[in-house]
Amino acid sequence: MFKTIATTPFDDQKPGTSGLRKKVPEFQQPNYVENFIQSVFDSLDGFKGKTLVIGGDGRYYNRDVVQIAVKMAAANGFGRVLVGQGGILSTPAASNVIRKYKAFGGLVLSASHNPGGPTEDFGIKYNISNGGPAPEKITEAVFARSKVIDRYLIADAADIDIDTIGKQQLAGMDVEIIDSVSDYAELMETLFDFDAIRALIKSGFTLRFDSMHAVTGPYGKEILEHRLGAPDGTCVNFVPLEDFGGHHPDPNLVYAKDLYDLLMSPDGPDFGAASDGDGDRNLIIGKGIYVTPSDSLAMLAANAHLAPGYKAGLKGIARSMPTSGAADRVAEKLKIGMYETPTGWKFFGNLLDAGMATICGEESSGTGSNHVREKDGLWAVLLWLNILAVRKESVQQIAREHWADYGRNYYTRHDYEEVDSGAANSLIDALRAKLPTLAGKTVQGLTITKADDFAYHDPVDKSVSEHQGIRILFNGGSRIVLRLSGTGTSGATLRLYIERYEADPKRHDLETQSALADLIRAADELTEIKTRTGRDKPSVIT
Ligand code: G6P
Ligand code: ZN
Repeated sequence: MFKTIATTPFDDQKPGTSGLRKKVPEFQQPNYVENFIQSVFDSLDGFKGKTLVIGGDGRYYNRDVVQIAVKMAAANGFGRVLVGQGGILSTPAASNVIRKYKAFGGLVLSASHNPGGPTEDFGIKYNISNGGPAPEKITEAVFARSKVIDRYLIADAADIDIDTIGKQQLAGMDVEIIDSVSDYAELMETLFDFDAIRALIKSGFTLRFDSMHAVTGPYGKEILEHRLGAPDGTCVNFVPLEDFGGHHPDPNLVYAKDLYDLLMSPDGPDFGAASDGDGDRNLIIGKGIYVTPSDSLAMLAANAHLAPGYKAGLKGIARSMPTSGAADRVAEKLKIGMYETPTGWKFFGNLLDAGMATICGEESSGTGSNHVREKDGLWAVLLWLNILAVRKESVQQIAREHWADYGRNYYTRHDYEEVDSGAANSLIDALRAKLPTLAGKTVQGLTITKADDFAYHDPVDKSVSEHQGIRILFNGGSRIVLRLSGTGTSGATLRLYIERYEADPKRHDLETQSALADLIRAADELTEIKTRTGRDKPSVIT
């Protein structure tokens, strides 16, 4: 019933910021998926007889990998697997299922916001029993194992039926196909005042939720339209497609431009939002105003107590280092802890588990809380709606009042995508070498106060993560940050983050790129990004 298959290692199965991500044809190489999953299982201890959750964002190859994973789980000794119907679980929903059913862990199949299809991206990520991505200790063990693996275990059995809810058996292991949405929807009902949101919608407040043909379609339909009474048509692009309709399921101003344009038009809805391939990212746009992820984190944190799930207040706020300091000012006012972590949601896990942080956020369109251990796109949408329902003000008014109270952090990110890896690395090396000489220097009229290579000392497990991004701080709280993306699948992506703090409400109406123009010039001078990459402008500006 179980087979042991001999295999040889691949040398490139190193999990990145968020699991192993490669093009589909690479995953389709014989034994590639099996080697990686076996390397995960071989790096874990004590799962015999326990439960494994399996689900993904529905992209191309999802269904095939679900079948492989189920058969390998059986052969490796798991007692039960829970699989989202059709192989579908959004990333936050998977995190919730792991927690709710006290599973040992889960395999989340997704390449997040990267395109899908036969020649596009796929990914496999392992999440631990708290529902969050495996910490580096585990991902490093997986990589080490993948380099020496010589066999994998798999059940010699027919495929399971992944489309019918209910219980089955596979080679002596229980297989349960579960509704992909209901557990998640129930959790949302415990956190938010659905009656208040329903009343807001009933009073004529209009919204649009764009699932970008990805996994949040069924979640949005059920929660926004069925449970909250938003009219049919509120959810758009809600049928998950294996190739996301040929689009890039990344909710930013480039790939969700239609939504942005609609919200900027006088007859658009009051509120617009979108989520990414696997449902953990969010884009929030009010009528006439785009809310940056960094601002959204700060505004949600400042108002979270208006939602039932957070009425006792927040324990602390955490943000990734490149995320703007807007939330820091909220933490200061609320007199709660503020934690600055490296990029990657996994770094929030310890803070959430230890009860040190309640809300977390990243500039990369991720916001979430201690309700699960992943960021959560629809959660952010619902928290915004709950706040709007209670405050009875527009997004525009809430943002303006927030800036008036706390000041505004102008913020932008410039991405240079698919840059030659050698050029990108030597740029970083050259800048790193210059760091000790920078403090006190003046560039483009701006004085540098501090320059370093960010290292994180986890206050909970005391682990240290070095080289997490270069920061150059200027007088007055402005800064530039530069790091290499950990999620790209071709070449290197350089991310340049630029931020300036403005206290004066008379200067809260500037166009972002011009408000940051001197810093953008300083960044170019310091990093030589244009000459070294051979690009005259960034590929994407958000
Ligand atoms: C994934 C992770 C996020 C992280 C992002 C960074 O989406 O889930 O937590 O912020 O990657 O991506 P980057 O490409 O900047 O490494
Ligand atoms: Zn994602």
